[in-house]
Amino acid sequence: KEIFLKDYKFPDYYFDTVDLSFVLGEEKTVVSSKITVFPRVEGSSYPLVLDGQGMKLISVKINSENLKDGDYKVDSRHLTIRSPPVGTFTLEIVNEIHPQNNTSLEGLYKSSGNFCTQCEAEGFRKITFYQDRPDIMAKYTCRIEADKSLYPVLLSNGNLIEQGDLEGGKHYALWEDPFKKPCYLFALVAGRLESRDDSFITRSGRKVLLRIWTPAQDLPKTVHAMYSLKAAMKWDEDVFGLEYDLDLFNIVAVPDFNMGAMENKSLNIFNSKLVLASPETATDADYAAILGVIGHEYFHNWTGNRVTCRDWFQLSLKEGLTVFRDQEFSSDMGSRTVKRITDVSRLRNYQFPQDAGPMAHPVRPHSYIKMDNFYTVTVYEKGAEVVRMYKTLLGSQGFRKGMDLYFERHDGQAVTCEDFFAAMRDANGADFANFLSWYSQAGTPVVKVTSSYNADAHTFSLKFIQEVPPTPGQPVKEPMFIPIQLGLLDSSGKDMPLASVYHDGTLECIAKDDQPVYTTVLRVTKREEEFVFSDIPERPVPSILRGYSAPVRLESDLLESDLFFLLAHDSDEFNRWESGQVLARKLMLSLVADFQQQKPLVLNPKFVHGLRSILSDASLDKEFITQAITLPGEGEIMDMMEVADPDAVHAVRSFIRKQLASELKAEFLSMVKNNRSSDQYVFNHPNMARRAQKNVALSYLASLEEPELTELALHEYKAASNMTEQFAALVAIAQNPGKTRDEVLADFYEKWQHDFLVVNKWFALQASSNIPGNVDNVRKLLSHPAFDLRNPNKVYSLIGGFCGSPVNFHAKDGSGYQFLGEMVVQLDKINPQVASRIVSAFSRWRRYDEMRQKLGKAQLEMIISTNGLSENVFEIASKSLAA
Ligand code: ARG
Ligand code: ZN
Repeated sequence: KEIFLKDYKFPDYYFDTVDLSFVLGEEKTVVSSKITVFPRVEGSSYPLVLDGQGMKLISVKINSENLKDGDYKVDSRHLTIRSPPVGTFTLEIVNEIHPQNNTSLEGLYKSSGNFCTQCEAEGFRKITFYQDRPDIMAKYTCRIEADKSLYPVLLSNGNLIEQGDLEGGKHYALWEDPFKKPCYLFALVAGRLESRDDSFITRSGRKVLLRIWTPAQDLPKTVHAMYSLKAAMKWDEDVFGLEYDLDLFNIVAVPDFNMGAMENKSLNIFNSKLVLASPETATDADYAAILGVIGHEYFHNWTGNRVTCRDWFQLSLKEGLTVFRDQEFSSDMGSRTVKRITDVSRLRNYQFPQDAGPMAHPVRPHSYIKMDNFYTVTVYEKGAEVVRMYKTLLGSQGFRKGMDLYFERHDGQAVTCEDFFAAMRDANGADFANFLSWYSQAGTPVVKVTSSYNADAHTFSLKFIQEVPPTPGQPVKEPMFIPIQLGLLDSSGKDMPLASVYHDGTLECIAKDDQPVYTTVLRVTKREEEFVFSDIPERPVPSILRGYSAPVRLESDLLESDLFFLLAHDSDEFNRWESGQVLARKLMLSLVADFQQQKPLVLNPKFVHGLRSILSDASLDKEFITQAITLPGEGEIMDMMEVADPDAVHAVRSFIRKQLASELKAEFLSMVKNNRSSDQYVFNHPNMARRAQKNVALSYLASLEEPELTELALHEYKAASNMTEQFAALVAIAQNPGKTRDEVLADFYEKWQHDFLVVNKWFALQASSNIPGNVDNVRKLLSHPAFDLRNPNKVYSLIGGFCGSPVNFHAKDGSGYQFLGEMVVQLDKINPQVASRIVSAFSRWRRYDEMRQKLGKAQLEMIISTNGLSENVFEIASKSLAA
């Protein structure tokens, strides 16, 4: 059933207090709830409809009286109380559930013998009957009773107010959460766990106990997570003035988890891979992801928990904002430019394709069948870009004022994206014109810029034309409000002072109090618009969309020579990188055309020269260099083609990589030699930059398949004292089929078979290989003893990993599609959320040639016609076929 934003209605009833009690058992778990209910409109009486799925109802009482059969009605999704009493009343429900059989990992389930919960978005209805919607905010207590030896640790939200032993080897704990919350933030954990303890003193002097819970043997791997948590707590105080509000903060790591992590009030539950790290077993990328996600979940305490969403359409209100906050946190802890580049690449490689395909939806969707399908890169990452635009327009201080007003107005409330917009606007008296359309219009705007210089008048003009492409259900679009951050470079490569700009019939002054300004933000709000800069003494090279100030596709009329000039000189490091990427994209697209016409491939020497000068520029950050010499991904290039051609794009990208490797061999060799590690692993920017540089160089070199270079990679593999370098060397070697590859892969498994997170890397590496015909190898790995279809991380590594090789997933013989089709059907019976993520790989089937379209479509049709298909997979598959 499809649900629409426009149909939102206030609830007829609110809940004031909720007292839950769980008796956890091996055979069944008994849940009792006691809820104080009151009507929204005093004196009214409507039926009270509670959500509830897949559980056994034992009893219902109102004001301590058992309800009779006719007083209520139960169907497969609801419990309806026909005519509740007028005024406030208490509702008591007892029901039974079976967490041990719950493979959907939603609601209450077991992971490695421990009980845990995941309620967002609509999992609470699998625990007990409730109004499962975020605008129902109540104060909770939670009593947990369980066997003491099997489940020595009993956790829930808030403060522990009572605990003790019971007869029969059992014990109990009683938790009380003093803050009102929606039920999606409820959590419970019970199991055999140990904790790393630490503390944080907030700036107003509250001492907070911090505990990270894992199975005993994993505790040594929680050092970095604890460091990240403390850093996040400090950062939120320093940057936003936001303090933690309880005396206890728990994090639990579980190996079976659908997503990354969950911000349950004071009891965050994490996918183990985003908590556990040691230098020997986790890469720099893992360390960075842990820092970001620990921050993310912690930041939700204010942006998500204290102020939550009125309904699930508003998801980006908390997710876009919290992603923005975690991006800023990671920037401040490391390198801002590098972080920005990583985030923009991610947006281009994952969000742009979504925004151009059948699942395209606005940052605030208009409808959904299954909310879980909308925890997307659009809601999260594009949502974060929307928040970033407020900051670009208002500046740091203006943005902070807006945040302060948002909390002042809405603490303790469930609100909408307009409320956030209004706080930003009102706190600054700002004019945001048509900015709200970022929330309602899907599709990535295309912005075309043409420039001209008038040497007599000393003016420089930039003309913008914007187009927002049609998306499903939105054939025609209004123009958007696009902030374009910009500077102008003079012929020596320096930023010119900007005096004033003529726009819309008025001359606007840019310079402030006679202080020269070098970078400004143009407000592009119409379909076509011109800006004319005055007092420009020579033809400038414009640096447009600095810092990537809006999530658009920019098409400028800059010449190749301008782009090389920006690559060499732009003071905005993001745009310096970007110029190189624009050049690389153009180059790749033209070589793809050559390849398709069977012309010989020749690499433009200017491109090699440009990269060589980046490589040898000692003033540049090493990680920046690494990113600058990394080519755009295959997906990014396919996304720019009329008909995506995975074979051609792969052939061209491999060709350029090998060409660069042989032309820049000497440079790459010295990059490997000069960036070797000392023994001590340190997680900081200079050390990560050094490792990144060495690893990228090694990967280029190994692509040449020369024996002494393979030998070099093998040497690095053996010498490595940390996973970052060991795994990178393995990846470098595994590019090329052959004996060395097989031996090293076997050696790696031998070494790490006891560590499931490392084994997942091993699965993913093999699964995503571009070696021809790899689907057979992946099928074999399905029956590897370390593989398990019930564990999402393993599925994402092996099956998701396979889709990461366009040549094999899109194999012309249809073998990749057939494999994935089979897996979706199998997975859907176990875990619909996981199946639904996997089936999304089919969604862009229309982008390929006729033959592939036929094969891909056939798999989607096969999936759709499967009996008992989940709503999750149905929504993605049917929308993919329809668009
Ligand atoms: N709120 C979580 C986070 O982003 C994600 C929960 C996703 N759950 C889901 N069923 N889709 O921090
Ligand atoms: Zn989140």
